[in-house]
Order: sequence, then structure tokens, then C-alpha cells
Amino acid sequence: MNKREKNNLILIGFMASSKTTLSKKLEDTNGYIRISTDDMIVEKMQMSISEIFEKYGEAFFREQENEILGTIIDMLKNSNEKYVVDCGGGVVSAHNFQELKTLGEVCYLNVPYEKIFKRLENDTTRPLAVDFQNLRTLYRLRLKEYKKFADFEYFGNNSDDFMKILDLEIAF
Ligand code: S3P
Repeated sequence: MNKREKNNLILIGFMASSKTTLSKKLEDTNGYIRISTDDMIVEKMQMSISEIFEKYGEAFFREQENEILGTIIDMLKNSNEKYVVDCGGGVVSAHNFQELKTLGEVCYLNVPYEKIFKRLENDTTRPLAVDFQNLRTLYRLRLKEYKKFADFEYFGNNSDDFMKILDLEIAF
């Protein structure tokens, strides 16, 4: 079965690029089952993302992220439902992402840095959005990764418009 037949959608992109908003919309209106890597980690650890970073550090968080991707891969492989996966911004660097990306269409939500910056300016929930000196550098590095993995990109931020683009990109 090729990945188009699987019907799953994998949303990637930088922090605050609307992955959560759009995946929730897809669950509400388009019959997708939504999975969020961040939510699964929070549930497993019974701690917020900030608490995990603070107590155990980023490397530990990345291990959790990779492990959760393994769980998601099994779910997607063993189900006929269609899933939308809301991927944390750093998931593209995880070893298991190499396999996850073969199980659905990968959509990169491409939002310009200036918009991201505005959205993150007062954010207190994302530990990597505290050091704004390094944020732009991270954005540049990640952009290359996102583009490398994307089957298609979405540049807007309107959910109705996104649905139309999806219809064009994914011929169900
Ligand atoms: C991260 C993005 C966050 C979360 C964590 C690290 C990143 O998810 O996984 O704070 O490395 O870009 P969102 O992209 O959903 O904000």
C-alpha cells in the first residue's frame, strides 16, 4: 500500500505554525483521528513540556519524542482509520520520523519568521521560545529539514483555505 492510499496526514512546521489548530479542525470536520506527539508525551510523563525540559533536559525530551513516534507508527500501521499527526516542531530530527513520513502525506505549514516571532513573543509554554537570540537560527536550520521532508507546503493560516488546498493535494 503506498502512502497516498493510507490517507494519513502528517503536519510538520515550526512552533506556532498552527499545526494544532488545523489538526483539530481536520478532526472536527473531516473525519480524521488527531494524534499529537506533544500531548502523548505530556500524558505519558504526567508533566508539562516545560517541566520535562526543566527537570530532565532537552536530550531526554527528544528520546521521549522518538519513542512516541514508534508508538504512533504502530498505531498507523495497524489501523484503517485516517489519522492527522500534529508533530512537535523538532520531530523531523528524530530517527523514527524517517519511517513515520512513509505512512502519510507530509504537509509543511510554512509560516514566515516574523509571524512566528509575534506569536511566540509572549508564549510561556515552549521552552525553546525563551531565547530569542537563537530562535531565528533554529528557524533557518529547521526550514531546510521541513522542506526536505514535505510532500507539499501550505503558506496560509486560514483553516477553510487549508481544506481547499488539501482537497487539491490529496486526491482521496
Ligand atoms: C519544540 C516544539 C514544541 C514542543 C517542544 C519543542 C521544538 O511543539 O515539542 O517545545 O523543538 O520545536 P510545537 O511545535 O507544537 O510548539
